[in-house]
Amino acid sequence: MSVFILLNCKTYDEGTGANAVKLAQACRDVAENSGTNIAIAPQIPDIFRVASAVDIPVYSQHIDGAGPGSHTGKVYVRSVAQAGAAGSLINHSERRMTLADIEAAAAALKANGMTSVICTNNIAATAAAAALAPDFVAIEPPELIGSGIPVSKADPGIVTGSVDAVKKINPNVKVLCGAGISKGEDLKAALDLGAEGVLLASGIVKAKDPKEALYDLVSLI
Ligand code: G3P
Repeated sequence: MSVFILLNCKTYDEGTGANAVKLAQACRDVAENSGTNIAIAPQIPDIFRVASAVDIPVYSQHIDGAGPGSHTGKVYVRSVAQAGAAGSLINHSERRMTLADIEAAAAALKANGMTSVICTNNIAATAAAAALAPDFVAIEPPELIGSGIPVSKADPGIVTGSVDAVKKINPNVKVLCGAGISKGEDLKAALDLGAEGVLLASGIVKAKDPKEALYDLVSLI
């Protein structure tokens, strides 16, 4: 099983513009040297410059299911695809969507051969998301996001419960977990709970030395 690590730059200045490119280059180097699959989700306006600078997968932080036409301000799947994105987060805790919009966004990504990661906040929402057959669901308890307290330690039951729920509904859907993940032991604990990777942000983006922090993250796998 190849471990998947998705780094979300959110709106951190340390992950914006030229900084997003530097972060992506660090991800590329660590991915190459450790044989892990590391992807990055910069701000939408930075997708093109990041995807032009590195050959690791670049994701959008959000996508709408809107098709071609008069949908001012919507994030159009073909636009991010042409900017170089390989996939997108959907329904992140900080960018919640309705169930209908989640379904439309996942369908738009699938129709364009792109990878979908539906974010969820509890086991019931994870089960509902799995029924939409995304490539990944990412369980992140909102109260632990940005806390530095790893979900794989603070709430292991939400990870195992999500893995079990997904297996029952659609075993092709892979489970990521996120919130407070930063160290190698956090990632190892997540994998031991049945997750196939992690979604993380501040532990790397805000680290004094993000590359060093990434090497630590992959040091136990
Ligand atoms: O999308 C990842 C995120 O919500 C987790 O944030 O800062 O706790 O790693 P953080």
